[in-house]
Amino acid sequence: MTHSVFFSGSSHPALAQEVVNLLGFSLGSLKLETFPDGEIRVQLLEDVRDKEVFFVQSLADNPNFYLMELLILMDAAKRALAKSITVVIPYLAYCRQDRKDKPGVPITAKLVANLLQAAGASHVLVIDLHADQVEGFFEIPVEHLHFEKIIGEALRKISSEKWVVVSPDIGGVKIARRMSKILATEMVLINKERLSSFEVSMVLIGDVKGKNVLIIDDLCSTGGTLVAAAELCKKKGAKKIFGAVAHGLFVQDAIKKIEASSLELLFTTNTVDTSHIHSSVLQRVSIAPLIAETLKNRFRR
Ligand code: R5P
Repeated sequence: MTHSVFFSGSSHPALAQEVVNLLGFSLGSLKLETFPDGEIRVQLLEDVRDKEVFFVQSLADNPNFYLMELLILMDAAKRALAKSITVVIPYLAYCRQDRKDKPGVPITAKLVANLLQAAGASHVLVIDLHADQVEGFFEIPVEHLHFEKIIGEALRKISSEKWVVVSPDIGGVKIARRMSKILATEMVLINKERLSSFEVSMVLIGDVKGKNVLIIDDLCSTGGTLVAAAELCKKKGAKKIFGAVAHGLFVQDAIKKIEASSLELLFTTNTVDTSHIHSSVLQRVSIAPLIAETLKNRFRR
């Protein structure tokens, strides 16, 4: 008898399939539909009673829909007497609002953590949260994985040169520090001030003259941060300029802006489904082996 059942929400079935293939499982059957008014309707077509249930759902692209779909799926599993519910959320949306930095604003990261727990999550697996402290918003175990190691491996495959790691903002220092340790190299910082949703002002702290730089960030949304950081590095005399982000949201004309910038290449993982984007600047690395390796010891056949 199998004790674990894996299901994919509708946000990124290709990643869910890759993960279960690596684990030697198959995806459980389920019905995902919407009523004509947009209301979500689901049905698990597997018996989950007393089983460890895993849902894979990324919250990019259409976060409100995918979050609601995940909550409803979990409710279905809970009501069918699942023994435990692990949610694998490669990209956890709403994490950028993680503190009350001005009057009248919400803390959406905490709200989402509460919703996931209320719907029945017993464990959460996430990749590169916007801020580590979001882990503490959950009262249940959180497995927080990082993407720098696989970027280091991918970079070494195409270049044996030395690279300096650049953090495009102060908030990204931890990611940059981990990356620089993996590459055994130095780290340079940019002090970024956001002027509007689309505009940032930047000051480089450190030296990139004549050096290859790898600008690393948790996510790329409009591309504004990466492009501005790349142009600043160029202006300061950097040689080759590469980028790396865990989550490629690539909204609006982000890819066009990146293609037109000084960034020669941008590594991104598949925490977000970017299969519809065709661009030679993107170098995709799969996060599935990291997820599968982590889950391997967590379930029983
Ligand atoms: C900000 O704190 C994040 O780490 C990213 O730098 C930011 O969200 C990227 O957004 P965009 O691509 O729109 O500049």
